[in-house]
This record gives sequence, structure tokens and C-alpha cells, in this order.
Amino acid sequence: MALVSAAEMLKKAREGQYAVGAFNTNNLEWTQAILRGAQAANAPVMIQTSMGAAKYMGGYQVCYDIVKDLIDSMGITVPVALHLDHGEYEDALKCIEIGYTSVMFDGSHLPFDENLEKAKDVVAKAHAAGVSVECEVGSIGGEEDGIIGSGELADPAECKAMSDTGIDFLAAGIGNIHGSYPENWTGLSFETLEAIADVTDGKPLVLHGGSGIPLDQVQKAISLGVSKINVNTECQEVFASATRKYIEEGKDLEGKGFDPRKLLAPGFDAVTELVKERIEWFGSTNKA
Ligand code: 13P
Repeated sequence: MALVSAAEMLKKAREGQYAVGAFNTNNLEWTQAILRGAQAANAPVMIQTSMGAAKYMGGYQVCYDIVKDLIDSMGITVPVALHLDHGEYEDALKCIEIGYTSVMFDGSHLPFDENLEKAKDVVAKAHAAGVSVECEVGSIGGEEDGIIGSGELADPAECKAMSDTGIDFLAAGIGNIHGSYPENWTGLSFETLEAIADVTDGKPLVLHGGSGIPLDQVQKAISLGVSKINVNTECQEVFASATRKYIEEGKDLEGKGFDPRKLLAPGFDAVTELVKERIEWFGSTNKA
């Protein structure tokens, strides 16, 4: 199946009260692991690259080619959107040109008027190319690949103004943060989420910082309008811990255990398992 825009996928998720998992990739095998998980779960999926990960992988064109070609060679039949995560304005335009089917323009660090103006411009260019757009209001806390947000509760009036620009889905701070949640985290602000959902006309909402949010809070957020959930750190953690186990058990020293195809396999299998598990949590199993 060809890459698809995320607009329809997330509209259906919002109507059907489930969320699509958006998993960050870092390389070829990571991308395979996500695709394997989504295909096994028969679920729509978003594969996203941060600007930093795309640079690490050799550029946006490489990311696009890898995802597109793997869909063919792996015989993937579930809907897949390739999304830019936390993109600057120029990067969003570049990804539209290359063939990404979805982009996030993150202007949350800009003065609000400028964030709105640039969002409108990205929407016009993206929609002309059939590409879906995510924008952000109220920064998400923590650090995501060098992008640091102080974490705040979004202002529903600003969310409405952003939603009215014609974006396809909206990321808004509701007490969520990137990376691990601290011991003293007080949880998601459902009051804020409800207030945002009330003024955004059924627009799909995005929950960043999906790693480490307890299942009951995830489900409640979905019931209030969250239709895309971003997961990055947890994939990295399960990859690292499976790789650590392989080495600590001395498996790299047995026979050809040092072959990267063997050494890295447990880590990528762990990513696939986590992807399947989170898709189940988000209610999107069998929604392809
Ligand atoms: P986590 O790393 O906390 O899962 O957040 C991912 C994310 O929101 C990417 O934008």
C-alpha cells in the first residue's frame, strides 16, 4: 500500500474513539520493527522522524525512500503515514516537497501570532500536495531530540485559533512531557483537555510524550479526543535493555554472535513487541 496522509486516518480514529500510534524511527531496522508491529496488529500507523533523527539517517530523502521501499518489500498492507515530528518551518516545507505524507510545524516557541501565520502558510502548501498538518500550542515539557519545551497547559482560546487555520490535528500541552515522567508528576490535566476539545470542533488531538503515561490516563485522554499518541523514549528503552541483556549474557562472544544482524536483533524484536502492545493500548488493533 502507498503511503497515505494522516488526515483521514485520524478523523476515523477520533470518530471511532481510538488513537493511532506515532512511533519515532532512527534507522532501517527500527523502521522495519515499527512496520512489523503495525502489520501484525493490523493497525494504521504513523512513522515519524524528528529533524535530528532524519539528519542522523542521512536526510529526509533517505527517510522517505526507506519507508516507501520497505512498505513495498515487506508487503505492508496497513495504512502508513510518514510524518515529520517537531519540524521547523523550512523543514516542514522540505518534507512536503520530498513526499512525506504528513508534517508537524512546531512554532510553539514563536510569538503566537507568528506561529499562527506560519501554520496557515504550511497548511496551504501541505494541503495543495495532499499532506496533513499538525501544529502545536503551548509547549510540551521535557526534551525531544534537542527541542526543549518548558511544559505548560495550552490556552483553549489559542487552541481554537490554531484549529481554525485548517490544520488537520492539534498538539496541545496538557501536562504531558517528553521523556520519562518524574516521580512527582501530577498526571494529565483532563480539565484542560476537555476545554480544548470543547472549542476545536471534533479536530483530532495529539498526545506527545506518550512514554510512561499509565493506561487509565491514556484511555481517558482518548475518550476526550486524543487520536494520535507519540511514543519514542519507551522504544529506545526496550531496545537498549534487550541489547544490554544480549551482551551481559555474553552472547556476542558465542560463535558469530558479534554479527550486527544477531547482536541487534533482540533490541529490534523488543521494539516490535512494544509497538504491538501500545497499539493494543490505544485501541487501534484491527483498525487498518
Ligand atoms: P516520548 O519520548 O516521551 O515517548 O515522546 C515522544 C514524542 O512526543 C515525540 O514527539
